[in-house]
Amino acid sequence: MSSEIENHNDLNPSSNAPFSTVLARQLSRRRIMQGGLGMAAATMFAGFGLPGAVRAAMTQTGTQAPLTLGFKAISGSTTDAVVVPPGYRAQVLAPWGTSLSSAGRQWSPDMVLTPEYQAGAMGMHHDGMYHFPLNDADASRDFLLAVNHEYIDQGALWAPRNGPTNNASGARPADEVRTEINAHGVGVVRIRQNDNGHWQVVQDDRHNKRYTSQSPMILTGPVRGTDHVRTAWSPDGTRVRGTNNNCASGYTPWGTYLTCEENWPEVFINRGELSADQKRLGFPTDRGRYGWETATGGKEGEFERFDNTPTADSATGDYRNEARAFGYVVEIDPYNPESAGHKRTALGRFRHEGCWPGRVVEGQPLTFYTGHDSRNEYIYKFVSRKRWQAADANRPGETYDRHAIGDSYLNDGTLYVARFDDDGRGQWLPLTPESSIPGGGPEGAGTLGEVFGDLAGIIINTCDAADLLGATPMDRPEWGTVDPATGEVYMSLTNNSKRTAQGTEASYTEKGTDIDQMGVGYATAPVNAPNPRPDNEYGQVLRWKDDADSPTRFQWEVFLFGSAANEDPRVNRSGLTADNQFASPDGLWFDQRDSAGHGILWIQTDNGLDKGRGNAVAEATNDQVLAVVPSAMGSGNAGESLKRFAVGPNDCEVTGIFATPDRTALFINIQHPGNWPAMNSDDATVAADGAVRPRAATVVIQRDDGGPVGV
Ligand code: FEO
Ligand code: CA
Ligand code: CA
Repeated sequence: MSSEIENHNDLNPSSNAPFSTVLARQLSRRRIMQGGLGMAAATMFAGFGLPGAVRAAMTQTGTQAPLTLGFKAISGSTTDAVVVPPGYRAQVLAPWGTSLSSAGRQWSPDMVLTPEYQAGAMGMHHDGMYHFPLNDADASRDFLLAVNHEYIDQGALWAPRNGPTNNASGARPADEVRTEINAHGVGVVRIRQNDNGHWQVVQDDRHNKRYTSQSPMILTGPVRGTDHVRTAWSPDGTRVRGTNNNCASGYTPWGTYLTCEENWPEVFINRGELSADQKRLGFPTDRGRYGWETATGGKEGEFERFDNTPTADSATGDYRNEARAFGYVVEIDPYNPESAGHKRTALGRFRHEGCWPGRVVEGQPLTFYTGHDSRNEYIYKFVSRKRWQAADANRPGETYDRHAIGDSYLNDGTLYVARFDDDGRGQWLPLTPESSIPGGGPEGAGTLGEVFGDLAGIIINTCDAADLLGATPMDRPEWGTVDPATGEVYMSLTNNSKRTAQGTEASYTEKGTDIDQMGVGYATAPVNAPNPRPDNEYGQVLRWKDDADSPTRFQWEVFLFGSAANEDPRVNRSGLTADNQFASPDGLWFDQRDSAGHGILWIQTDNGLDKGRGNAVAEATNDQVLAVVPSAMGSGNAGESLKRFAVGPNDCEVTGIFATPDRTALFINIQHPGNWPAMNSDDATVAADGAVRPRAATVVIQRDDGGPVGV
């Protein structure tokens, strides 16, 4: 997202000294990294996964040709248009405000949106997304598209009124708030490719549905039915209204969509004393991000629920616990519009960026990787207790109880947090009541259970529990993706202005000394092995692989460092040039092309200029999509391996990515563009003629000759 709603403050109060204090190790790693991508790959990937040499050998003995990027890399761009390589085209699809039905009003640039219209139309600020086939034969031409609507641009939303009413002070009008609420959430819409290769929204399809920040949702897992989540609207703590600030996405092997709640704390307030979890996650104390709590005239606490200040004698008389039903991975069944979203509390509660399934193996537990996008926060994984049964796999297009299958895998299992050791090894630390606290916890507590009571208490306070176990503070974990052939996981660490130099001490805005005071702010953390650059302006992509014989151990390395091309080699460690410089990696997708583990890693950026980071990369190019073939990195350098594939229009972030199963269409999202798309064309590469009301949209990129994208 843009800096508009970002709050990646240093909310980690842990007193763990980041582990990387061995200078010699650091220097030796630095020398390796300075050798450029190819050298880093050859040196550090040895011994895990399928390194380039092994993959090359497999290719030579097998039938599969080496995968190479077949497009002409493009230059950086700073225009009001999407840019794609020669021989490619890009189409705008399902922009904000597109009605899901053909009845009634349709979008127009001067439209004043109402709650009712927005509830039946695509929301704002498209982010994570995924595709759900209706049948196997047409899976690349006709499917359900699930898209997150992460947040709103009030300027564009209320453009015909010259902006929102009473945004900074005073009461917000109820219908403005309802419209804004309905512009958040998730959209499920059927899309179809015509014979001429053009894509369109299938209005009136029975699957088309909006989930908004008002839609009823079901709480599942350890937190369901506990005292933590009882409210006046759900006295038994089993339900909540809405999902909010849905950022990245994932999916399950049984055909459901996972949408992840990221920058949700700021839509709530507590005017009283903040609880530990509210402090840790960054609650406002005077006014919510959009002042939704100030509206009046709703029913059943429609607006009051955003104000979590205790007012009644007990939790079932007010909304003090409302926000404890947020911060989760939420499962949606796109095939069944009658079903409600299920919040999967077992996967932890924090600012979830996204959730990505690990390698799926019959008879083995399922793994889902997640990350907490705030400075110096952590990476997690959830391992199901139930072992995967192929009989549970998705049956495209059929309606049956996928949430019951989700219940069996996603409500019972173990949540782990990652500790990265500086020797390239790592440990997954279980967040369970029995887990011992190294060195002892606050007030003499020996286990997480003694601090937080039970698993539900651990989940509510996930980040504090992770501190106590000694997790490694990271440079803002964003998207992950998994190579399904090898199980290797990639994750973006986007940037971190609060990463300090080797030898400095971690600092805290207020260091907690007892259980009640936990959760109050890690101001800075010194460099450590996976986050080795102080004042990290450019970000990096991490790669790890869990050990085959142990769910708690893994091997890791930095896969790629972002940088401006003109930086010193101590910063530009992957040897990037003007042709492939990038900063703030965010969206990722591993695009498997064959069973030998060959595939393209697509990398999207959220760097920005005026609304983001004004670094040399932002001066040179708008946010972009890059591609690299990891299996081809045993030789060569970054200039040969990493290629710029697409660039977005001014002021946008590029996020959300997948390709059709036949790889002939790559879908990306353009979020918060400044002056795009053009009014009378759905060609994404056409710049607007004059000023337009900007609309986030999906963009479909295809080759003119209809061939597979990227190769
Ligand atoms: Fe919504 Fe961390 O990006
Ligand atoms: Ca993101
Ligand atoms: Ca981002």
